[in-house]
Amino acid sequence: MMLVTLALMALLVTSLWLYNKHRLSYWAKRGILSPPGLPLLGNFVDVVMGKPGRWAFDEKVYRNYTREGLGGAYILLSPILYIADPEMIKQILVKDFDHFSDRQSFTSLHKNDKSMNESLFNLNGEKWKRLRNLMTPAFTSGKLKNMFHLVCEKADTLKAFCLKEAAKKPFVNVKKACGRFTIDTIASCAFGLECNSFEDEDAVFPAKVQPFFAAGILRIFKFMLVATFPFITGLMDVGVFPEEKFFFQQVAEETIAARRKGVRRGDFLDLLLEAQASEENSSDDQTKAKILDDATIISQSILFIIVGYDTTATTIAIASYLLSKNPEVQQRLRQELQEIVKEEGKLTYQGVMDAKYLDACIMETLRLYPPAPNLERVCSKDYKVPGTNITVRKGDIIEVPIWSIHHDEKYWPEAEVYNPDRFMPENKADIVPYTHMPFGGGPRNCIAMRFALMEAKVALSTLLLTFDMKTAPGFRDIDLVNGSFLIMPSTVNLVLEPLGEE
Ligand code: HEM
Repeated sequence: MMLVTLALMALLVTSLWLYNKHRLSYWAKRGILSPPGLPLLGNFVDVVMGKPGRWAFDEKVYRNYTREGLGGAYILLSPILYIADPEMIKQILVKDFDHFSDRQSFTSLHKNDKSMNESLFNLNGEKWKRLRNLMTPAFTSGKLKNMFHLVCEKADTLKAFCLKEAAKKPFVNVKKACGRFTIDTIASCAFGLECNSFEDEDAVFPAKVQPFFAAGILRIFKFMLVATFPFITGLMDVGVFPEEKFFFQQVAEETIAARRKGVRRGDFLDLLLEAQASEENSSDDQTKAKILDDATIISQSILFIIVGYDTTATTIAIASYLLSKNPEVQQRLRQELQEIVKEEGKLTYQGVMDAKYLDACIMETLRLYPPAPNLERVCSKDYKVPGTNITVRKGDIIEVPIWSIHHDEKYWPEAEVYNPDRFMPENKADIVPYTHMPFGGGPRNCIAMRFALMEAKVALSTLLLTFDMKTAPGFRDIDLVNGSFLIMPSTVNLVLEPLGEE
């Protein structure tokens, strides 16, 4: 008996060893460099221990393990292919999109969980394509223009809050204030709800959204486990999203019920309900099941809250910080904004969206600190990389290291210097295509890019027209949260001095 047990154990260990060897030689066999990985863990330890975050590991692969624009790595035993060459990136994100339209999917098998499975971010294949087509009209300039006043209302609340804080305290935690602004704005534009997080220290929405951004090794481990073994983790009901998703699910269900009784606000929820009605009435291909059911609408509302909260708050807060560190840029931008207000009487949609230096300041902020530091695609059918002998196999994960490309001197001379002039119309032609991708690229880019930019521009303009901004004494540099997938400053403390009336 003892001998049999020992023999079985030896067989198990040998099989594991062989499987591990087979998996961890995936890139070497294809002539692609990759950092050395640990048995069964691959480069997982480097990824989670990387400081300050995942992009630090990406940077290591980008700098040391890419050859002819390609590099490899392993998360647990899953091979990841880094695409570092802008021309190749364009090929994959745009021209050969039909091979790379998917992302890794995090689907919960919990029977009551309608919260995230059907979100645009999570869906793949034909279902993603149909949903994206249905949702795209909600993000046109005409629809955004209708939401402009909602965003301005929230920016006025941000201003009032900062005025109060600045009167009481030597400096203001601008990151926290911007987080309140974006949660109020997205709750208003996605759900039509007033969550009053400026007035109420214990407001529910900010508290419930925070756990989605909790950083840490355990969280990253869960994500990677679910991505690598979806079937097993699905059976064990290992979810990657916190329980707070059920709170947002309930809010969405109640709001949809209220809208059906006739309340209308012109926000994203109304637009999704309109798209649902038009899908139901459409005479196109009756054989296809309708996809915009209530569970799908609920998933989008929750997704908007999650993806719209920290990304945009980080952008506004870091832009404010960079302007504080560069007073001459701050003054030039303020002058542009004051001229717009003088001409039009107030901030208008067109004025804000057409302001060239404002756009350049935000674009340069997003270059230095892209909230999403990398892009991901999953190969859905085998693909030979043009100009190489390499074939990407179905199921391979592709990674575009945005952070590293944004900081590469090859594309951005004096890459660490904040210089918005790079994005002024007269210099834009010098930018190599696909070296600036804060909103991703190709047909699966950020669907809400224009909305996010409108929101960030309105908030930043409002702050600049109200305050002179300086970094707080002792606040030296942006400190990014460790163990996070996103670029998140832990805090941004600024001295806000109200400007005198002109
Ligand atoms: C500055 C703020 C933001 C940044 C930097 C940002 C960035 C991104 C990036 C990099 C992606 C992945 C694109 C790709 O894979 O090519 C993405 C996807 C997405 N974003 Fe944003 N985002 C921002 C704000 C928002 C907001 C406010 C919303 C919602 C109201 C939103 C909704 C989405 C959705 C739904 C997707 C998935 C699109 C799809 O898979 O078809 N984002 N975003």
